[in-house]
Amino acid sequence: MGLVLFLTFSLFLLTIVSGNRDNTHSSCTSIFPDDKHQSNGSGIHLTLHHVHGPCSPVTAPRLPLIDVLKLDETRVQALNNRLTKANVTTSSIPKSSDLTPESVGIPLNPGQSIGVGNYVIKLGLGTPTKYFTVVMDTGSSFNWVQCDPCKVYCHPQEGPRFNPSTSSTYKNLSCGMPECSALEAATLNPTSCTKSNVCVYTSAYGDGSYSVGYLSRDTLTVAPSETLPSFVYGCGQGNQGLFGRSAGVIGLARNKLSLLSQLSSKYGYVFSYCLPTPSSTGTLSIGKSTYNPSIYKFTPMYSDRREPSLYFLRLASITVAGKALPLSTAVYTRTPTIIDSGTVITRLPSAVYVPLQTAFVKAMDGYKQAQPISILDTCFEGGVQGKHVPEVRLIFEGGSELRLAAQNTVIELDGVTCLAFAETTSLAIIGNRLQQTFGVMYDVSSSKIGFAAGGCG
Ligand SMILES: *[C@@H]1O[C@H](CO)[C@@H](O)[C@H](O)[C@H]1NC(C)=O
Ligand SMILES: *[C@@H]1O[C@H](CO)[C@@H](O)[C@H](O)[C@H]1NC(C)=O
Repeated sequence: MGLVLFLTFSLFLLTIVSGNRDNTHSSCTSIFPDDKHQSNGSGIHLTLHHVHGPCSPVTAPRLPLIDVLKLDETRVQALNNRLTKANVTTSSIPKSSDLTPESVGIPLNPGQSIGVGNYVIKLGLGTPTKYFTVVMDTGSSFNWVQCDPCKVYCHPQEGPRFNPSTSSTYKNLSCGMPECSALEAATLNPTSCTKSNVCVYTSAYGDGSYSVGYLSRDTLTVAPSETLPSFVYGCGQGNQGLFGRSAGVIGLARNKLSLLSQLSSKYGYVFSYCLPTPSSTGTLSIGKSTYNPSIYKFTPMYSDRREPSLYFLRLASITVAGKALPLSTAVYTRTPTIIDSGTVITRLPSAVYVPLQTAFVKAMDGYKQAQPISILDTCFEGGVQGKHVPEVRLIFEGGSELRLAAQNTVIELDGVTCLAFAETTSLAIIGNRLQQTFGVMYDVSSSKIGFAAGGCG
């Protein structure tokens, strides 16, 4: 599986001819290198880009939807393994005397998955500040960027890599530091040590991607004149995989080492985003002062001891064309449900998915059904244009709801329109297609999640 994906990846690299960047868009220029970052000392607003969005800072190759769905399934499997604590260690860990190509075994515990890595932000690192585009991920706890000299390997990224030797504030963290002890919980992989006692992290992803390097500390610039002086992150010396030409990953999960947690003493343990469609631009806001609670309707945020870093919530009901599925609340809550920025297609347990599919097909009366495509088994002939897509509403415990537009409900490929939900046997996941254009608030300090319509695009 890993090898097949790797080969697919290599082939796909060979076929990249040009990207889809359209940075010449006049509305894309602004104060903070290409971005409208703002801050007033109590919170920050960052521009959140879809990798194929109009102002995207990366020239990410456009994957065929079938490959997107495959990667999405890999992420879902990795999230499931985290919950079931499946022992998936595949190979030896670099008991590195030092990082050399030989010391990097083949991926390790693929505890995580970046999936498609659709959403990116721009952040500044080091002194003087250099700017990098990184994938934002609510399912990741650990932050890392590729670093020169890339002792082992670096994947292709947009613009130059971070070179720690040019930053006057860069520091390696040694093995005795508490941040080094916190690594294993954040990366789900064991930590090692170089001969010179530098702490080595390993982040391995379910699709065979990985990053291995030094645990480091440097100044992070989140907005003009807004910095976090001792930001802890990984300086990647061996990085391989599908990171869409971004420089690395920024984690927003509930874990000590995530960016959110590191900023929480300054801004509070609260963030919100609006995930844009590929034709719009969104926002990522961090801090208590950045949101107006009156525009959100809230549902409780839950934790699961087996995976405390993920964001759990409870569905209470689903309606299709105004009619609730004939299910008791217990059917919705029997399966744990998370909300995730990195999973594309929403996954529902069979007991919920099958009645949803039945009601949806009934409401799509008059449209001829088509063959399933990958994990999408409810498809109709013809594109979405001109179709009347019934309104689907997701109602959460406490009454907050997502009234989905057609673009959140269905997905079009090769002249076929499919319901953008899939069936799962274990963890239910509220995916990013469904969340696009809504304001989504994660108030970790008060354990609640809020939704608001019309957040962006
Ligand atoms: C600045 O603070 C005010 C409240 O004091 C808040 O409404 C506003 O959103 C903040 N701006 C930023 C960029 O955080
Ligand atoms: C960090 O540690 C690595 C590995 O020991 C070393 O090559 C590098 O020079 C160190 N960087 C600094 C700034 O100490």
